[in-house]
Amino acid sequence: MELRYKAPRGTQDAVPDRAAAFRGVELTMLGVAGCYGFREVRTPVFEHTELFDRSVGETTDVVQKEMYTFTDNGGRSVTLRPEGTAGAVRMFLEHGLFNEPTPQKYAYVTSCYRYEKPQAGRLREFHQFGVECFGAADPLADAEVICLAQELFDTLGITGLTLRINSIGCPTCRKAYQDALREYFGARKDELCETCRGRLERNPMRILDCKSPVCHAIAEKAPVILDFLCDDCRGHFDRVKQALDDYDLPYEVDPTIVRGLDYYTRTVFEFVSDSIGAQGTVCGGGRYDGLVKELEGPDTPALGFAVGLERLLMLMEAQGVSLPADDPVQLVLIAQTPEARRLTATLARDVRLSGCACLFDTVGRSVKAQMKYANKIGAQYTCVVGESEMAEGSVTIKEMATGATETLPLEGFAEAFAEYAMRRVVEAFGENMQLPDGQ
Ligand code: HAM
Repeated sequence: MELRYKAPRGTQDAVPDRAAAFRGVELTMLGVAGCYGFREVRTPVFEHTELFDRSVGETTDVVQKEMYTFTDNGGRSVTLRPEGTAGAVRMFLEHGLFNEPTPQKYAYVTSCYRYEKPQAGRLREFHQFGVECFGAADPLADAEVICLAQELFDTLGITGLTLRINSIGCPTCRKAYQDALREYFGARKDELCETCRGRLERNPMRILDCKSPVCHAIAEKAPVILDFLCDDCRGHFDRVKQALDDYDLPYEVDPTIVRGLDYYTRTVFEFVSDSIGAQGTVCGGGRYDGLVKELEGPDTPALGFAVGLERLLMLMEAQGVSLPADDPVQLVLIAQTPEARRLTATLARDVRLSGCACLFDTVGRSVKAQMKYANKIGAQYTCVVGESEMAEGSVTIKEMATGATETLPLEGFAEAFAEYAMRRVVEAFGENMQLPDGQ
């Protein structure tokens, strides 16, 4: 069947199995981040366009080429968020959270929108898990968020990521570096793409992450920022590395990492995988000490990172890590007669009230078809209700995995089933538990 309506290019639906995988991963990540003091926040999916122009930066690819910007019916220019940091900073300021004890630590799960050329691992609507920490300038804070990112991957069972770090200095050291870049790229100005020719005067660092192959090749031999760091930035970077060593976290210093967003200062980092193709950067982040002030707030050091959730799931699949799944339906009630079907409707409601997942036939299928359905959805238990069960006032529960049966009364059925299901969990736990020898 040729469908007329398809999801827009670069977007993905999450059918139930995939939604369960996302939810499981997100809850795990929020839980781990919670242990580091990061608390969940939520910000709007769209913001005033100017927020992103000023924070992400007017000469970045994201702002120049990739934003979903439109004028709303009130004549305001708004933009679907291309990332989560700008909104978090705006929220931090708007709610006066800088008056609260620092550091303020936030975690979020958001959808993001970038008009990029879709390919494996690169979407137009994608999702990020991110954290932002406000008010901590110490290098130990940089190492702490990097350690958190690593712990997220470890907890999810992901292995083999490479941590790459760099320092891109502060406005002081960057001045000399920008001059050096202007000189280097200026000599090959005619070969640069039109966008990068425009960047040469305003922000030559952005040429370093241009996606055009020619600019990319020229950028490979450009001067690197590490050679231009001021003493303070160099000292900060040395202490970040020392703290990573204390955590036994292996890293590579990669002087070519500049990140594609303008707000970064000092430490920047990425976690990269070689098992998911060209879009191997699963996590990116760093310090952005100037951004809160740039958005007219008090001078506040800040840092964070974001993990791309679609890339993360791709990686888990590539590494054969089992994805989180929905809990199975515990009980399917199977009705033999129309009267029994009426009874199963209220029995199911009662079972659900006791916290167990329970289904009954809302289609009007034959007993055989109801059984088939229960098998297909992986029900843990089935229970047939017919004339004789109703006459006798009791039913038989069948455990699908073992074939074990148990008779339960119809009177007080929900409580009896909940107790039985709990007993089976405890018994199964006992059966699977390996006690040390002699105990
Ligand atoms: P970013 O490097 O632009 O940083 O994005 C973070 C992660 O989002 C990337 O490493 C990647 O996994 C994922 N990602 C980015 N673009 C796409 C795309 N088109 N399709 C699929 N996944 C994508 C930021 O967004 C910063 N806000 C991170 C941050 C937080 N820095 C400090 N705090």
